[in-house]
Amino acid sequence: MALTRLAKCAPPAAADRVRHSPATVFAAGERNHHISNTAYPIAHRETFWPYRVAREKHAETVAEAFDGLGEICLYSHIPFCETRCFFCEYTVVAKKELSATEQYMAALNRELEIYAEHLGARTITGFDIGGGTPSFPAAALIAEHIAAVKRHFRTGPGFEISIETTPRIAAGAADKIFAYKEMGIDRISMGIQVTQPDLLKILGRETNGVEYHFRAAEHIRAAGFRKFNLDLMYGFAGQSEAAWQATLTHALQLAPDYITLYRMRYKLTRISHQAEKVEMAQVRAQARLAKDMLTAAGYLANPGKNTYSRIAGDTGTSGYLTRRVIEGASYLGLGLGAQTFTDSTISYNSGAAGKNLAPYLRDIEKGILPLQDLYHLPAEHMMAKMVAVSFYFGEVNLAAFEKKFGCSFEAAYPEAVTFALSEGLMQYTQSENGPELEGLNARALSLTPLGAQHFNGTIALFFAPSVQSYLLGRDPEHAEDMHENRAAALRVALKA
Ligand SMILES: C[S@@+](CC[C@H](N)C(=O)[O-])C[C@H]1O[C@@H](n2cnc3c(N)ncnc32)[C@H](O)[C@@H]1O
Ligand code: SF4
Repeated sequence: MALTRLAKCAPPAAADRVRHSPATVFAAGERNHHISNTAYPIAHRETFWPYRVAREKHAETVAEAFDGLGEICLYSHIPFCETRCFFCEYTVVAKKELSATEQYMAALNRELEIYAEHLGARTITGFDIGGGTPSFPAAALIAEHIAAVKRHFRTGPGFEISIETTPRIAAGAADKIFAYKEMGIDRISMGIQVTQPDLLKILGRETNGVEYHFRAAEHIRAAGFRKFNLDLMYGFAGQSEAAWQATLTHALQLAPDYITLYRMRYKLTRISHQAEKVEMAQVRAQARLAKDMLTAAGYLANPGKNTYSRIAGDTGTSGYLTRRVIEGASYLGLGLGAQTFTDSTISYNSGAAGKNLAPYLRDIEKGILPLQDLYHLPAEHMMAKMVAVSFYFGEVNLAAFEKKFGCSFEAAYPEAVTFALSEGLMQYTQSENGPELEGLNARALSLTPLGAQHFNGTIALFFAPSVQSYLLGRDPEHAEDMHENRAAALRVALKA
């Protein structure tokens, strides 16, 4: 196995040197379907903890991690929203901090400078401005931020900027939407989620009527956006099949270029207690209905992929996300709640846990990297993170995996791959996703329709052993799997 890129990774702790049987892990992923998904890792305070880097080593570790990474993606997080929806899993500040947009955007530009000082000029290949609601601050603040990015970093071929908005802003503030296009933003994404007023009320989401959506879509088209995405959500407690069908019908009437479906993830939301009311049967039926309706309307996605595109050869996702999903691209995340990923580290910015600005602003004022947690990880976790993100498209690009880690996917996961193939969960394909990415063969290991139905079990096959142990240990009635795994971990630790 060539070790060039892997050499930067940390050695695995004992908990990541055990190997679990794929069948038990698959079953644990299925049982824990609410948390076994693309949002890797699970319980990072537990599973990543052995790899935490002390604060005084942050700058040095970050510089080493970015060394040699010529091209990266960039994400800027804007944590403001008019109201905070009860279902939201993202970092959004409280109402009393909504007046701090100017101060925050200045800090974001300063963070960019701090990174540029540490890392030197880099080439950015994709740039997402996400949230929260990045269209909440004045458009001029976003324009200044984009200008700052272009001052400090080079932009690579195919560079694309994407931004998120809400129907309320896109309908009520057309000037902002037009300004975004003028400042060079290529793609815009708007959250519809669901359309039923009674469900929206339970979810704490604005209920300003579907006519807003038509006006919002008109403004987005009139501004000349080439790429227009709508987000819809399913898997909510109390969301009937008929309600979901009505939401899909409405979205199709708005005729966006892409529709992204999000299955509700309850973890760490204000309504997390409702998770137990949602059975897999509901989730599967809703996913099937969406696939049937969207496919019939000309929106396509391979099994397991959640962004449906009606433009041939276009994945539908932003340049930033496409490169992350297919290539496992390294990315720099700026702002409260942002995450950064290299070949050997993952970090979380200050203030995300408490969802307040003070710790983040304090670090920026001191001129230090605003990192709350930085982890120098072993290959087991870096590979798992790349594969979990790849599952956004329901497949792993085999050349991209080998390029990033210097070993084939099959060599990294011999038992998991054999299991996924023999159980009919995955198959080898020539992927249609990302033909524009240069130098990558399109050969992929992709979910079959059966694998897409068992998404949560299949994805868990590629998690690092410590995360698999966490899943195995969550169910008392499966304690024997856990005892077996703990004993194996102990044996490995004793041998070391
Ligand atoms: C960062 S949000 C920004 C979108 C914008 N603020 C809005 O609400 O329209 C991006 C998308 O994440 C999805 N989302 C939010 N909370 C989620 C959760 N708990 N589970 C799954 N998807 C979620 C929603 O579909 C949302 O449109
Ligand atoms: S779903 Fe969108 S508008 Fe609602 S709180 Fe989350 S980021 Fe804000």
